Amino acid sequence: MTFFYANIFLFFFLHQLIIFSNGQNITIKGGYWLRESELSLDKIDLTPFTHLFCGFADINSQSNQLILTSPNSSFIQFTSIVQQKNPSAKTLLSIGGGGANKTTYGVMATTPNSRKSFIDSSINLARQLGFHGHDLSWIFPESASDMANLGILLNEWRITINTEARNSSEAPLLFTATVSGSPRVNDSIYPIQSLTRNLDWINLLEYRFYEPNCSPLETNSHAQLFDPVKQVSGSDGINQWIHEGIPPQKIVFGIPFFGYAWRLNNTNIHSLRASAMEKSDVYDNPWMRYDQIRDFIVQHRATTVYNATIIGDYCYSGNTWISYDDIQSVRTKVSYIKSRELLGYYAFDISGDTNWNSLLSQAASQEADGVTQGEIVKKKKKLNRLVIILIPIGALLILILLVFIIWYLRRRQVPKFQELERNQRNKMGSRNKARKSGDNSNLQVFSFDEMKEATNNFSFENKLGEGGYGPVYEGKLKNGKK
Ligand SMILES: *[C@@H]1O[C@H](CO)[C@@H](O)[C@H](O)[C@H]1NC(C)=O
Ligand SMILES: *[C@@H]1O[C@H](CO)[C@@H](O)[C@H](O)[C@H]1NC(C)=O
Ligand SMILES: *[C@@H]1O[C@H](CO)[C@@H](O)[C@H](O)[C@H]1NC(C)=O
Ligand SMILES: *[C@@H]1O[C@H](CO)[C@@H](O)[C@H](O)[C@H]1NC(C)=O
Ligand SMILES: *[C@@H]1O[C@H](CO)[C@@H](O)[C@H](O)[C@H]1NC(C)=O
Ligand SMILES: *[C@@H]1O[C@H](CO)[C@@H](O)[C@H](O)[C@H]1NC(C)=O
Ligand SMILES: *[C@@H]1O[C@H](CO)[C@@H](O)[C@H](O)[C@H]1NC(C)=O
Repeated sequence: MTFFYANIFLFFFLHQLIIFSNGQNITIKGGYWLRESELSLDKIDLTPFTHLFCGFADINSQSNQLILTSPNSSFIQFTSIVQQKNPSAKTLLSIGGGGANKTTYGVMATTPNSRKSFIDSSINLARQLGFHGHDLSWIFPESASDMANLGILLNEWRITINTEARNSSEAPLLFTATVSGSPRVNDSIYPIQSLTRNLDWINLLEYRFYEPNCSPLETNSHAQLFDPVKQVSGSDGINQWIHEGIPPQKIVFGIPFFGYAWRLNNTNIHSLRASAMEKSDVYDNPWMRYDQIRDFIVQHRATTVYNATIIGDYCYSGNTWISYDDIQSVRTKVSYIKSRELLGYYAFDISGDTNWNSLLSQAASQEADGVTQGEIVKKKKKLNRLVIILIPIGALLILILLVFIIWYLRRRQVPKFQELERNQRNKMGSRNKARKSGDNSNLQVFSFDEMKEATNNFSFENKLGEGGYGPVYEGKLKNGKK
């Protein structure tokens, strides 16, 4: 029995430890803000973040210099607005993004002159606008030569950053790159050593594994953390990057604040990997912000599903099926990031969160700091440890007590019956004594004949009511006592 309980509790304890083991604290709580987003920066809660990326500056294809798309006011005001709302937050100017022309980046990285032009203008502009650093979001270098040129670009860029810092006696600009979720793009591998040596960290794009534009015939989780079958997931991406030699402490894990909507082929078949076609009826663009998805769920009374196997949410109503990350998925991802001792996470993009109370940003930040759920889990762990110690001891004590009681009863059995008999005889004696003395003792034993006589042969009129053990009768003794 002891062994059985100990095993049960050991199992729960280990289970909790595996899912929520607290490794290193999270250092980077990043967030992208995009210039074209509808929600202006000063309406967003920035307190859950340590680093904010402003997207996106671009390259002038003639001069290879960094340029700001106009109107440029949001770039110029970015750092001062962030620091008003969160004085300790750092800002980074992000260059490129998914909408940029990849060819321009490939061309810029090819020659020493074009690279120098780009690097010098990037550092100048970042300093001029008060950013603490810059981020290269080249989405993505595709060929082996692109990858090789990226390696050279980062080497030269790092040298220039350090020189500039010495010249200006300011802290070096932060230097990061946002890269693909796995270390290979079209069979070309990123320049791992250059990334590790030159960058403060890399942002891994662990989402957009599936989207309706690329895989329209089947619904799927676009940012799943685990994939038991095809190994297309956030955790598989992390494993591959670490396998190629990137230290975990250089990795910042991307969490999407958006989802994708598919159009179901059959409204009754709405599982993961259900048959789909084209795009959703409800929206022209299959890309949806988290707050839009929440509105959709309320307005269309959509059914929501959290899949704890893959860590990802989906919802459906009519023929619309949406893959996204809700609070539980975000929390679980952050606790995974902690357990793998990665540097942190970034959100893409922060205007997708609910603007009334920044649900996802807060959940991620709280999980990172180990408050709320983490705190509860820590307490549970302590309790489990206690239980593991106490349960066997308790079981042992109960066992000893039982053995003692059995032994005690066996020993007492014979004398006990003798005692009962003796008591019986004493009672008889005392009854006779009481009758003789007319004594008012509380407990009296009467013979059946005496009772029959007293209750008038148990007549109905003398019945007082039903007692717990049958009818109760009022009786009158010969001496008038009731
Ligand atoms: C994590 O942060 C908490 C609270 O900020 C601190 O008490 C703890 O020592 C930190 N742990 C590590 C491993 O840095
Ligand atoms: C911002 O745009 C204005 C007007 O288009 C221009 O004069 C100014 O130089 C730009 N500033 C930067 C930092 O690009
Ligand atoms: C991308 O840039 C290249 C060279 O810079 C140019 O030839 C090409 O037309 C551009 N593509 C688009 C879609 O603008
Ligand atoms: C640093 O200062 C030296 C000498 O003043 C100058 O030649 C060089 O261009 C400067 N480099 C940077 C990156 O500012
Ligand atoms: C891989 O290469 C093909 C053609 O060479 C291109 O169409 C595709 O976009 C590339 N894939 C990625 C992920 O860039
Ligand atoms: C969608 O459904 C139709 C009939 O309802 C079927 O003929 C078709 O094969 C389905 N498409 C896919 C991709 O399963
Ligand atoms: C959750 O994901 C697993 C793995 O892909 C899948 O087998 C299972 O059917 C999913 N469950 C739900 C409810 O979506």
